[in-house]
Amino acid sequence: MKTPVYLDHHATTPVDPRVLEAMLPFFTEKFGNASSRHHAFGWEAEHAVETARRQVAELIGASPQEIVFTSGATESNNLALKGAAARFAGRGGHIVTAVTEHKAVLDACHWLQQSGFEVTYLPVDRDGLIDLELLRRSIRPDTILVSIMHANNEIGVLQPLAEIGRIARERGVLFHTDAAQSVGKVPIHVEQAHIDLLSLSAHKIYGPKGVGALYVRRKNPRVEIAPQIHGGGHERGLRSGTLNVPGIVGLGKACELCRLEMSEEAERVGRLRDRLKQLLEQGLEDLHINGSMKSRLPNNLNVSFAHVLADSLLMALRDVAVSSGSACSSATQAPSHVLQALGLEPDLARSSIRFGLGRFTTEEEIEFAAARVIETVKRLRELSPLYQALKEGRDLKTSAH
Ligand SMILES: Cc1ncc(COP(=O)(O)O)c(C=O)c1O
Repeated sequence: MKTPVYLDHHATTPVDPRVLEAMLPFFTEKFGNASSRHHAFGWEAEHAVETARRQVAELIGASPQEIVFTSGATESNNLALKGAAARFAGRGGHIVTAVTEHKAVLDACHWLQQSGFEVTYLPVDRDGLIDLELLRRSIRPDTILVSIMHANNEIGVLQPLAEIGRIARERGVLFHTDAAQSVGKVPIHVEQAHIDLLSLSAHKIYGPKGVGALYVRRKNPRVEIAPQIHGGGHERGLRSGTLNVPGIVGLGKACELCRLEMSEEAERVGRLRDRLKQLLEQGLEDLHINGSMKSRLPNNLNVSFAHVLADSLLMALRDVAVSSGSACSSATQAPSHVLQALGLEPDLARSSIRFGLGRFTTEEEIEFAAARVIETVKRLRELSPLYQALKEGRDLKTSAH
C-alpha cells in the first residue's frame, strides 16, 4: 500500500488507465480539428467526438444531440443558469435553488441577482434535504428555472430528483441539476426525472480535468438557452471554441466505464464506506455523521469529530489525504455553508472531515486511514484543555449517581 492514502475523490479522481489509453492517440497521430471538413484528420477527430457524445448520452438516458461539450461542470452550470435566464428573461425573472449548492451555481445566481433576477434559496433540513412542499410553494408565475443539485459535494446527500422534476414539469418551469458528483456513481435518467438541463464533469469520474458537458433537452419540451461563449458556432452554436478532442474522448470513455461498472462499483465502495464508519464509531466517542445516511452517495462520509478543529486534524494527518468541509472558505475560517445550512453548531461544523472513497480504494487503505484518524483525534483531544475539562465534568457527574 502506498501512502498518502487518497480519500478525497469528491475533489478529483485519478484518470483511469483505460481512459488514458483511449485519449493518447488524439494528442499525437490523431490530432485533427473536429471542425475540419475537408480531410481525414478532421473526420477522424469528428468521429471520435461523436462516439464520445453517444457514450455520455447513454450514461444519462439522453440522445447524443442533447450533449454539449464544455470545460467542466462550472462552465456547464454557468451556461445552464445564465443561458436560461437570458433566453427566458422576457417571461419573468425568478429562479429557485438551494442554499447547499456548489459555488458554481450560487455565484452564478448572485451574478444574475445583480442583473435584476430574483433568486429564492431553499433551506435544507438536518439531513441536508430540501422540503418538496416548500419547493412547490416557492414556484411563482414568473419562475423560469429550478436548479437543484443531485449529490452534494461535501455531505454526499442525494436530493429526490424525480420528485423535483415532476413538480417543475407540472408548473411548466425548467429544471436544471448539477450532477457533477452523482453522474457515474448512482443511476440518473433525464427522462425519468424530467430533467431539462444537467451538468457533469469528467474529472469526477476518472476522466481528465478541464472537460465536461451540459445536457440540453431537445424534445418534450425543446429547451432553448442562449450561448455564453460566442465564436465559430461549435456545438450547435451553444458553445463556440475548438473542441478539446482528447479530453472529450476521455470523458466519453469514462462515461462508458461508469455505465458498465457502476452498479458493482457502488456496492463495493459502499461496503468500504460503511466499514470506515463502523471503525470510526468503534474507535472514538463524540462523532457526528453529517447528512442523511439513507439518501447518500455510496462513496461519501462526512464526520464531525467534536472538540477537534478540522484544520488541526488535516495538518496532523500527513499520510491520509482528506479534506475539511470548510475547504472553500478556509481563508476566512468560516464554517462551510453546507454544514451551517444543516443547522450544525459552528464548533461542530469546524470539526468536520469529508471522506471520499473511489474506484481504486482498498480495504487495507480504509483500515489504515481509520486507524490513523482514530489515533490522531485521540491525541489532539488529549492535548485540548477544553476537552479534558468537559470529560472530567462528565466523569464527576457519572460518579455522583
Ligand atoms: C457539485 C459540483 N459542481 C460543480 C463542480 C465544478 O466542476 P468542475 O471542476 O468540472 O468545474 C464541482 C467540483 O468541484 C462539484 O462538486
